[in-house]
Amino acid sequence: MTKRVAFVTGGNGGIGSAICRELVVQGHKVVAGYFPPEKESAEAWQKQMHEDGVAIGLAGVDVADFQDCERAINEITEEFGPVDILVNCAGITRDGTLKKMPEENWKAVMATNLDSAFNVTRHVINGMLERGWGRIVNIASVNGQRGQFGQANYSAAKAGMHGFTMAVALETAAKGITVNTVSPGYIATAMTEAMPDEVLQSIINSVPMRRMGKPEEIANTVAWLASEANAYTTGANIPVNGGLFTSH
Ligand code: CAA
Repeated sequence: MTKRVAFVTGGNGGIGSAICRELVVQGHKVVAGYFPPEKESAEAWQKQMHEDGVAIGLAGVDVADFQDCERAINEITEEFGPVDILVNCAGITRDGTLKKMPEENWKAVMATNLDSAFNVTRHVINGMLERGWGRIVNIASVNGQRGQFGQANYSAAKAGMHGFTMAVALETAAKGITVNTVSPGYIATAMTEAMPDEVLQSIINSVPMRRMGKPEEIANTVAWLASEANAYTTGANIPVNGGLFTSH
């Protein structure tokens, strides 16, 4: 199997960690992107991963900042090699109903969850096109597919992310690159832990599988989409949600 350089934004997060682990298991050289103010906890996370036998590179990058993404991708390319696998996984929530949503909560979520896909992908796409190989996986959400009370910002950004996936998939399909979205349902991570208990419980009760998903269940799907084996699925939105939302 060809060993590739994989860059996972939000790599030290709940879902990101599982994706990094799985890509290492698949034999890739993995670099986890973290939000620069979280340097200390990201380094502790990296140390823990090393102790678990999982070697991962680290790159501080503000995915909401186009120039900072350019700097980070250049540095990763120099230190590890050109990025062949990109997983856009960095994301935040600023939940609240629209009638009360401050502009800053709209802007923060759009910048971190949607602008980021452009900001990072823009700096790896030409290299992938030149080399004639690439795998891009965008982590969206079931709530981008069906909407969620209290998430006008998050639902809009995640729906937008799949629009980005579809367009870039078409632009790159003839060049050995696949671009896909994975839309997780409610996964056991710090993000869902931050939800009000009763709201989370009522959502779990509405999941046909009656449980939350595990980060590894997302990671397995991402690893397949990022593999050599996936040469023909592109522009797709793969749901991993326990049946919470089904569609054509
Ligand atoms: N459907 C319909 N009505 C609802 C509702 C729902 N799901 N939830 C609340 N309401 C109603 C309440 O009953 C209340 O009604 P009244 O005014 O008639 O009493 C009203 O809406 C409350 O509105 P507020 O604006 O006052 O809302 P709030 O301050 O109570 O907070 C909230 C609402 C912030 C949205 C809170 O319910 C919440 O945090 N919900 C969780 C949203 C969510 O699912 N987030 C996902 C986070 S994890 C993630 O994002 C990962 C992923 O991809 C899945």
